[in-house]
Amino acid sequence: MELYETIYKRRIVRDFKPEIVPDEVLKRIINAGMQAPTHDHLRNWEFVILKDKADKELALQFIKKGTEPQLEILKQTLVDGTPQQKMYAIAMPRQYSMLMNASHIILPFFKSNSGVLKPTCVSSLNPLSSIWCVIENIFLAATAEGLACSMRIPVGEEGKNVADIVNAPENYLLPCYIGLGYPADNKPEVEQIQYTAEQKMHFGKW
Ligand SMILES: Cc1cc2nc3c(=O)[nH]c(=O)nc-3n(C[C@H](O)[C@H](O)[C@H](O)COP(=O)(O)O)c2cc1C
Repeated sequence: MELYETIYKRRIVRDFKPEIVPDEVLKRIINAGMQAPTHDHLRNWEFVILKDKADKELALQFIKKGTEPQLEILKQTLVDGTPQQKMYAIAMPRQYSMLMNASHIILPFFKSNSGVLKPTCVSSLNPLSSIWCVIENIFLAATAEGLACSMRIPVGEEGKNVADIVNAPENYLLPCYIGLGYPADNKPEVEQIQYTAEQKMHFGKW
């Protein structure tokens, strides 16, 4: 797939077919992730891959709770909400299933330092910024392979709890979970808010 086509085609997908992604495709995607720029020239990244149902259930146990009560409100939002509210109405009830039903869950860990969780300036966040470059490469590579990704940011203690479950070392943090798989044919289309470059560019001064 041509690069611009891949970029425009990439979307977060939250419904997957029950098909398994072959190992060599998964490796290509992770290798593409690791071509990302890195703040320390070290590429301090590790990837825990979950494929078995039991392993997924164990890691996702911290998500399961909490989404059910909102379902009725979300159904109405799908009808009369703003594009952002509609996205939430699709996303919220799927926070567990979009990972559980993915062929693989990728947990991208980055080596942290004392500054990341207590930043004093933007560069304190460099380890976090670098892993997000990796994550976008993974999304694009998956798209180029005809696959798609879901993504969730761990909330509160969730990331630490997942890290403990998969034996990640203390100084490695989890920025997000990634679900990887073949997009379902009947997945809901999420209305996008599109901007043009002309609307956002400021030549010389803002
Ligand atoms: C920093 C960040 C956090 C996000 N957190 C979540 C999340 O917790 N759960 C989820 O389903 N999607 C999450 N998303 C995906 C966004 O909802 C999605 O990217 C956005 O709606 C735009 O849609 P698109 O990626 O399909 O273009 C997140 C995206 C980003 C960049």
